[in-house]
Amino acid sequence: MNVVFLACSYPPEMQQYTRGLAEVGASVYGVGDSPISQLAPSFKQYLTDYLQVPRLLDENDVVERVSAWVRGKQIDRIESNWEIMVLTAARLRERLGVPGMSVDAVRGFRDKQLMKERVAAAGLRVPQSARVRTSAEAQAAAEKFGFPLVLKPISGAGSADTYRIDSKRDLETVLGRTQHVTEASVEEFVDGEEFTFDTVSIKGKPAYANVAQYLPRPLIARSNEWISPVITTVRNLGQPALSDGIALGRRVLTALGMGTGFTHMEWFKKPNGEVVFGEIGCRPGGAHLVDQMNYTCDIDLFREWARAVCWHSFEAPTERKYNVSIIFKRAKGQGRITRIVGLVEFMRKYGEHVCDEKLLRPGTNRRNWKQTLVSDGFIILRHPDWRIANQLADIAANEITMYAE
Ligand SMILES: Nc1ncnc2c1ncn2[C@@H]1O[C@H](COP(=O)(O)OP(=O)(O)O)[C@@H](O)[C@H]1O
Ligand SMILES: [Mg+2]
Repeated sequence: MNVVFLACSYPPEMQQYTRGLAEVGASVYGVGDSPISQLAPSFKQYLTDYLQVPRLLDENDVVERVSAWVRGKQIDRIESNWEIMVLTAARLRERLGVPGMSVDAVRGFRDKQLMKERVAAAGLRVPQSARVRTSAEAQAAAEKFGFPLVLKPISGAGSADTYRIDSKRDLETVLGRTQHVTEASVEEFVDGEEFTFDTVSIKGKPAYANVAQYLPRPLIARSNEWISPVITTVRNLGQPALSDGIALGRRVLTALGMGTGFTHMEWFKKPNGEVVFGEIGCRPGGAHLVDQMNYTCDIDLFREWARAVCWHSFEAPTERKYNVSIIFKRAKGQGRITRIVGLVEFMRKYGEHVCDEKLLRPGTNRRNWKQTLVSDGFIILRHPDWRIANQLADIAANEITMYAE
C-alpha cells in the first residue's frame, strides 16, 4: 500500500495522519514545503520518502512534480487532509489513475455555491443563496432574498471575510470591506443553533459519526474578542433533538458523492426545529476537533482514518463516553501575555476533567484571534453529563483570564 500524502507535516496535526498511515501498514510518500532537514527524526521515521516542493499551493507545479517523482512506482492512494490541498490530491489521482474521489466530486465539497446547489437538488434544505462577483450582483441578490443576509467568500474558511448584513447600509459597508474577495456567496441568514456533523466515511457511508455544538455560533465568536468560544462534542447522538440533523448529514454525503475519508459539515437548527445545511468539507474539522472526537470515545481517529483510506475498514469502538468541550481563550490587552489568572484554581478544582491545557504562557506573543480560532490557547475538558461538561466549560470561559501588554 503506497500512499502519497500531500502536506504531510504542516499543519502540525498532519504529522499524526502520517503516523496513522504508517501504523496501518502503508508506505508513506510525504509531500511538503519544508526542507527535509527541518523534519524531526521522531516524525521522519514514518516516511518512506519525502518530496519537498517550493510552493505547496501552486497546484500545477505540485501536480507536475509529484507525477515525475512517482513515475515507475505503483501508487495506491493520494490523499490530503488540508482543505486547500484536497483538490490537488484529486487532480493527481485523476492524472495517475489512482482510486479515490474525482475532481468533480471534490469540487462539491470546496465550492460553497456548488455544494448548496447539489444538496438542494437532492431535495434537502439549504439557505437560499447566489454566487456574486460584483457589487451589483450582490445588491441584486439582496433585493431577491431580503435581509438579514450573510456574505462570505466562495472558498472561505474560519469565518474570514464573512458578515451578517441587516440593511442596505450594512451591505454598502461590507461591500466596501470585501473588495479583495473575487467571488462570494450571498445567502439567507439562518437563525438558530449551530452544530457540526463529522464523519470518517467508507465509500460514502459513515463508519464513525460525531456531532458537536458551537457555543456561541462561529460568526458571533469571531466578531467579539471578549468571548471565549466553546465547542462541545455531544455524547448522546441518539437523542431526538439531533436526529434530523444527522439524517440530513448522511443524505448530504450521498448527494455529494462522498468517497472514503473525513468529512466536516455544519448545520443549523432553527427555533422551529427545522434543520438547514450550512457547509461541508471532505477533510477533518480544524482547531482540535479531531482531538475532541478522540477524547469523546478514547480512540485514535488519526489511525482509523488511515485504516479507512487504505483498507476500507474501521476498527475502533464508536461508543461515546464523554461530552468533550474545548474552550479557546483570548487575552485582554495587546502584545505579550503577562499573566493567567484563575488557572491554578481551576485546575485544583476541576483538573480531573481536563484532558489538555495549552494556554500561551507569560512571555509569549499573543496570536491574532481573527486569524486563528485557537487564539491564545485552549483547554479541553470532558464529562459524561452534557450539562456538567458545559457548566465546566462556562467556568473556564468566565473564570480564567489571560492578560497581555
Ligand atoms: N446562511 C447563514 N445563516 C446564518 N449564519 C451563517 C450562514 N452562513 C454562514 N453563517 C455563519 O458564518 C460562519 C462561517 O460560515 P461558513 O459557511 O461556515 O464558512 P467558513 O468556511 O468560514 O467556516 C458559520 O459558522 C455561521 O456562524
Ligand atoms: Mg464553517
